[in-house]
Amino acid sequence: MADILVTGGAGKLGAVVVAQLAARGRHARILSHSGAAAPVAGAEVVVGDLTTGRGLAAALAGVRVVIHAASNSQQAQAVDVDGTRRLLAAAQANGLSPHVIYVSIVGVDHSTAPYYTAKATAESLTRQSGLPWSILRATQFHGFVAALLRSLGIDTAAEVAIPEGVRLQSIAISEVAARLVALAEGEPLHQIEEMGGPEILPLEEMASAYLRVRGRDATVRPAPIHGSPWDGFRGGAVLTPDHAVGVITWEQYLRRTKAS
Ligand SMILES: NC(=O)c1ccc[n+]([C@@H]2O[C@H](COP(=O)([O-])OP(=O)(O)OC[C@H]3O[C@@H](n4cnc5c(N)ncnc54)[C@H](OP(=O)(O)O)[C@@H]3O)[C@@H](O)[C@H]2O)c1
Repeated sequence: MADILVTGGAGKLGAVVVAQLAARGRHARILSHSGAAAPVAGAEVVVGDLTTGRGLAAALAGVRVVIHAASNSQQAQAVDVDGTRRLLAAAQANGLSPHVIYVSIVGVDHSTAPYYTAKATAESLTRQSGLPWSILRATQFHGFVAALLRSLGIDTAAEVAIPEGVRLQSIAISEVAARLVALAEGEPLHQIEEMGGPEILPLEEMASAYLRVRGRDATVRPAPIHGSPWDGFRGGAVLTPDHAVGVITWEQYLRRTKAS
C-alpha cells in the first residue's frame, strides 16, 4: 500500500513527481478529481475532490507524506484555500500526522493577484496546521512560460507583441519534482524553501530564443501589455536570485522540447 500521496499527481508537476518516485521504487497514490489515469504503472489513483472533501479520507489512509501539488488558478478559493483546509483537516484525522509538503510559487507573499493570495493563504494554513510541514516555492516552469508565449501568438504571428518589463527565472519541472522527492524522503523543514531557474531573462529575450530554436522567422515587439499575469511578473517579486539552483536553461528546455 502506498504511503505517499501526491495531490494533483496526474497534473504537469505531479506526474513528474510520481514518475520520479516510481524510478526510486516508491509507488505513490494520486488524488485526482477528474479521474485522470496514473502517469506510471503501479501508482494508485483515488478519485476525490478538494472542493467537497469527497475521497480525501481514502486518499490519506496509511499515508506518511503528502505532496500537495493540486491547484486550480481559476478556482483558487475553492481548490487552493478551502481545498487545502479540507485536506489538512482530513490529514489530521487520519491518525498518522503525515508530513505535508505544499507546492507554492516564489512571490506569493508579494502579490495581490487572487491566485497568489490564495496560495499565500494555503501556505499559512499549512504552517498553522499542527502537522509536520515543508513548503517549496518554485519559480515559473519553463513549460508554463512556453504556454504563455503561445497565448501571445508566438507560433503563428509575423510580429509578436511581448509585454515589456517582464523578467522571469523559469525552471525545469524535473528539477522541482526532484526537490519534492528529496523533501518527501527527508525530515520536515518547518520552513519555506525557494528554488528558481539558473538565469533571469527578459521575456523579449525568451521569445527571441523560442523563435530561434523553433526556426521561425517573426519579429518580437515589446509592448505595454498590462493585466494578469503580466503585472504580477513586473518588479522582480517572482524572482529568487539567491536561490538560482536550477541547472537546465530556457534554451536547453527549448531544444529538448523542439519536436513537440
Ligand atoms: N505552472 C508553474 O509555472 C508553477 C510554478 C511554480 C509552482 N507551481 C505550482 O505547482 C503546482 C502544480 O502545478 P501544475 O502546473 O502541475 O498544475 P496542473 O497541471 O494544473 O495540475 C494541478 C492538478 O490539480 C488537480 N486538481 C484541480 N482541482 C482539483 C480538485 N478540485 N480536487 C482535486 N484535485 C484537483 C488536477 O488533477 P486532476 O485533473 O487529476 O483532477 C490537476 O491535474 C501548483 O500548486 C502550482 O501553483 C506552478
